[in-house]
Amino acid sequence: MRILLVGGGGREHAIGEALIRDGTELYVVSKGKNPGLARLAKGYGLAKETDVEKVLDYAEKFGVDMAFIGPEAPLERGIVDVFEENGIPAVGPTREAARLETDKAFAREFMERNKIPGRKAFRVFDDVSEMRLWIDDFEKPVVVKPIGLTGGKGVKVVGYQLRDNEEAKSYAEELIRRDGKVLIEERTDGVEFTFQVFSDGKHVIPMPLAQDYPHAYEDDEGPITGGMGSYSCPNHLLPFVTKEDYEKAFETLKATVAAMRKEGTPYRGILYGQFMLSREGPVIIEYNARFGDPEAMNVLPLLKTPLTEIAAGIVDGNLRKAEFEEKATVVKYLAPKGYPANPVRGLKLEIDEKEIKKAGARLYYASLDESFTMLGSRAAAVVGAAETLEEAERIAESAVPHIRGKLFYRRDVGTRGSLEKRIELMKELGREFEPNSC
Ligand code: GLY
Repeated sequence: MRILLVGGGGREHAIGEALIRDGTELYVVSKGKNPGLARLAKGYGLAKETDVEKVLDYAEKFGVDMAFIGPEAPLERGIVDVFEENGIPAVGPTREAARLETDKAFAREFMERNKIPGRKAFRVFDDVSEMRLWIDDFEKPVVVKPIGLTGGKGVKVVGYQLRDNEEAKSYAEELIRRDGKVLIEERTDGVEFTFQVFSDGKHVIPMPLAQDYPHAYEDDEGPITGGMGSYSCPNHLLPFVTKEDYEKAFETLKATVAAMRKEGTPYRGILYGQFMLSREGPVIIEYNARFGDPEAMNVLPLLKTPLTEIAAGIVDGNLRKAEFEEKATVVKYLAPKGYPANPVRGLKLEIDEKEIKKAGARLYYASLDESFTMLGSRAAAVVGAAETLEEAERIAESAVPHIRGKLFYRRDVGTRGSLEKRIELMKELGREFEPNSC
């Protein structure tokens, strides 16, 4: 089997590694050459992932049987539709189905008309005065979101990036003037978690839960980033997510896939539910139409079922199973100093791959060129997988000193202290539960 992987970040390095484990011939197209993927691939094409025609030319040149789409931007451009029209099945939702991620107004209206469990109160506005009146009447703290893809930026929450609902109104007005529309939601307090599933449009197969650390600095301080690291637990739950919460969140994702099918836009690919565990239970905050980055690096190293078999099941409508090892994982991303606002660029990293391997860690390259020069986003990730969280964290941590350069990372990702903090927060919110082991 020849598969074309589209995308060149850390997430795609993990996908590529999982695909070649099954003996698949890997081909890659991305904007820059990921040094890890370049070693795994039989052929590598350089093109913007959103330049769908050029990506298709490479797919035809390489004679691939299937494509696997990593990031969301080409999904928004309809890459899956174009590939299918040209006889190449692709793992990922069509342009219309990817609107669950690419068009937040669509996603909220879809949830509302299909009564998806775990949804929250929202309104979409194109009129400034109506928006202002609604926020005044609503009284509770709100979240202001741009409608389209923002690469994790642009969402602002009262109590965090916005002082109060007054400031929320001004920011929402700015977005209406810029984009024509804005989404206003009720703020949900709690702890976020990631639930990723595979779907062939009908069957829905869960992956282990993971938790991302979106803040740049330790103790959850600093600006929001693409994610500075993440962890997962051997029982595939999280310490503060009970089995009952898990089942409820799974119901949300299953109901989403069933409703997409009923509406004539079957969802095939990876569906990522970003949940907030609130006092009342899991609430869906966002959908993503792809693997998480870094969360792909938690689940893919544990996958026992060949990813190629899963990919074939997704495109054939015959997805049956995806089994994962019962291990803990910890991912730590190293980012250029100054990331995300003013990252240093153009500086080279020194990476001792042999020592990282000796430490038992996996290494995934991201925003680096072939000479290991930093390009401005998260540069590389190290991953520990082990029987216990402590051991997984220790492995990831012991790999960090072998990557040298003008970098920073979060020491606290996957540490017991940071997990306790999340458990405490849930208790402070008044939730009574017995934490799961991790
Ligand atoms: N880790 C957040 C995301 O992939 O969107």
